[in-house]
Amino acid sequence: SRIAVFASGQGSNFAALAQAQREGRLGGGTIELLVSDRPEALVARRAQEAGVPALLLRPKDFDSREQYETRIVEELHQRGIGLIVLAGYMRLITPVLLSPYEGRIINIHPSLLPAFAGKDAIGQALAYGVKLTGVTVHFVDGGMDTGPVIAQRALTVEDDDTADTLAERIHRVEYELYPEVVAAFAAGRVGLNGRKATVRQ
Ligand code: GRF
Repeated sequence: SRIAVFASGQGSNFAALAQAQREGRLGGGTIELLVSDRPEALVARRAQEAGVPALLLRPKDFDSREQYETRIVEELHQRGIGLIVLAGYMRLITPVLLSPYEGRIINIHPSLLPAFAGKDAIGQALAYGVKLTGVTVHFVDGGMDTGPVIAQRALTVEDDDTADTLAERIHRVEYELYPEVVAAFAAGRVGLNGRKATVRQ
């Protein structure tokens, strides 16, 4: 699969995916494009370092979200993109992007969904006091972190965890899990049947 990664921030998952590709751990997947809605974000520099072309657009330079996404879809089609991988992309997706890429957009979220959807999932989990949290990779639909779950990995919350220590362990899990799921997708091993996603070994 030809892959576009969408990211708004640090891009440490982008870097982990790029490294996985270099090490031959992305199956047949190749990262062909970074899309970012924040041209000043660190992820843009990481793409440059990795030699990945970037489409950097400010949504406010467009008349509507739909026009912003129309520009993105044009670029994705031109580059023959078959899979969209959201990695810290802080915007909801509209049907302009969703309909042509239905079943081909995935996201990673730092909690065991459906617990703690939305922003600051790690802070939410700590504030709630759960003893177990984790990472979810899921298909994207029109909602906020609501699409069918593809894979989850759990980790325990320690009594002395702070937002920083927990985030660090969660990130390490993300850097392993996301390349595995992307490789499975690229190999045609991820299926979707109604709300149920499956990963064949
Ligand atoms: C990750 O924790 C991811 O789960 C969430 O946003 C964060 C992105 O971090 N959706 P980074 O930009 O990949 O470093």
